[in-house]
Amino acid sequence: MPGGAPDEYIADPGLAEVGDRRIRYSERSMPLLTALARRFTAERPFAGMNVAACLHVTRETAVLVRVLRAGGARVALAASNPLSTQDDIAAALAAADGVAVFARAGVDRRAYYEHIALALGDGGPDLVIDDGGDLVNTLHTERADVLPRVRGGVEGTTTGVLRARRMAAEGALAFPVIAASDTPVKRLVDNTHGTGQSVIDGLLRASGILLAGKTVVISGFGTCGVGIADCARGLGARVLITEVDPVRALDAVLRGFRVLTLADAAPLGEVFITATGSAEVVTAEHMAVMRDGAVLANAGHFDVEIDVRALQTLAVAVYPDVRPHADAFELRDGRRLLLLAEGRVVNLVAAEGHPPEVMDLAFGIEALALAWLAGNSEKLSADVHPVPQDIDAEAARLVLAALGAEIDSLTPAQRAYLASWHSGS
Ligand code: NAI
Repeated sequence: MPGGAPDEYIADPGLAEVGDRRIRYSERSMPLLTALARRFTAERPFAGMNVAACLHVTRETAVLVRVLRAGGARVALAASNPLSTQDDIAAALAAADGVAVFARAGVDRRAYYEHIALALGDGGPDLVIDDGGDLVNTLHTERADVLPRVRGGVEGTTTGVLRARRMAAEGALAFPVIAASDTPVKRLVDNTHGTGQSVIDGLLRASGILLAGKTVVISGFGTCGVGIADCARGLGARVLITEVDPVRALDAVLRGFRVLTLADAAPLGEVFITATGSAEVVTAEHMAVMRDGAVLANAGHFDVEIDVRALQTLAVAVYPDVRPHADAFELRDGRRLLLLAEGRVVNLVAAEGHPPEVMDLAFGIEALALAWLAGNSEKLSADVHPVPQDIDAEAARLVLAALGAEIDSLTPAQRAYLASWHSGS
């Protein structure tokens, strides 16, 4: 029981060595967390504190856990989804002093919640990091006895933030929760750059096509659509944009993309990618005029953007798995349309989601927010709070420094000028 929890809560302690190697490999692509590990080793913001975390047990999470430990925390980790648990990573973390790991891939619902309850420990945590709200929920419903100890928590996903907001609205939330899911830096790096690259990754893995020279239609030019469009163009695709928002559409035009309606784009496109967050975007009407071999992929959160049922109805034959995560649908006139990942979010199903550099920023912001919370929780009400703006800027600054990019600072005269309402003359 080296890490503070019996080995029975992980799959195989023998996987620790390979897990450790993989964590170290990912760590090399995580400059922000590496910088924070150094800073927290000196500042010890969590000295003597228990931190309970409920996160996907992945390589990137392991790097975050090491940062918390560097800051002096005793960490207990439970999985936020048993399907995403990497058993080698759980073993590597469990082998480290100060980490109690309760995570095994594929456990059932009962064991999942049992693991979360165990991560709360006997005396309860001082701080929590959650991903989806299950730990915060368990704390309030099953371990109200330890609630007075909890200073606050950080939540990393929209769903968890919504749950915490509902608890706060009912007066049921016992401590402040920082909503780390939606900061300007995270939206830029995660939605635009992370999703942009990984959606194209998923598209290429599942379809196996050459993107250069292809006509790619992207529906939705929001934070995700911008990134997908840039990546597709970077690989030589001719990118067409469809939008419903005139401002977003104007932005697309000014960036050199052709903007048109989906009805007009349907017969032109060779690849269609939806990223709208809306429903029934690509419909039977569009499929009816698409070119033979057209590829359909969705990047939006839910599998409702491409009307898959309409495609099934239109098809006279279906050839499943013509490639991993690609099904071909043959229409009455012999044309075939290729649907990727069953219309589910293509970068997570057919590729690996976000790379470590993206998680570096997301987790770096969470670690900074947690350290801030450790020192400021008494000033905060038991409600959901945004990440303080300077934490976002600080995260961006640290990554820029790690990448060797320097920026200028405002001079005192410039600061005074910008703060004044007098004219410049
Ligand atoms: P956003 O709100 O910034 O952009 C969506 C855009 O789609 C807006 O400009 C909107 O005007 C446009 N739109 C809405 N209905 C449309 C329609 N019928 N036709 C054409 N355009 C339409 O949202 P964001 O951040 O780009 O997210 C989009 C979706 O992607 C959401 O479902 C989000 O949850 C999901 N998402 C997926 C990720 C992934 O890893 N695959 C990562 C982050 C977000």
